[in-house]
Amino acid sequence: MAGYPAWDQDSARMIVAGLAHLEGATLPMLHALQDEFGYVDPQAVPLIAEALNLSRAEVHGAISFYHDFKTAPQPARIVKLCRAEACQALGCESVVDELSRNHGIAVDDHHAGDAIVETVYCLGNCALGPSALVDGELIGRVDAARIAGLCQHGKAHS
Ligand code: FES
Repeated sequence: MAGYPAWDQDSARMIVAGLAHLEGATLPMLHALQDEFGYVDPQAVPLIAEALNLSRAEVHGAISFYHDFKTAPQPARIVKLCRAEACQALGCESVVDELSRNHGIAVDDHHAGDAIVETVYCLGNCALGPSALVDGELIGRVDAARIAGLCQHGKAHS
């Protein structure tokens, strides 16, 4: 998910203008903006409204109706940490505690910055818990230090 350019209103305007001829252009525009920047900045709303002669409320409505659209830059990395039953039995809650106590990482804090750690329920790796999923890679027997390292270095093998 990393590597998107920062929001740029001029490029956004060009993307919007390039799609304005389409029938029902709101969604294609939103998708194109999200593809380009990784999210749809609130500054896109007046651009789209103007290009399509819609009210800002209508554009807002489309953005909030489709949950796929992000309205803020997304973290470079999401670590999914399993907290379902089997992983609980193998200590995932102490990983969560230790992350917050020793590493300053709050699980499920979606404003955490470059990396977030998110709760999921069962990754199908129960015997080797606590389990985590990072960039599509399943990691077993994680501990807090490993997760903190993953949040910092951006490599599943580090
Ligand atoms: S309970 Fe954690 S992987 Fe299944």
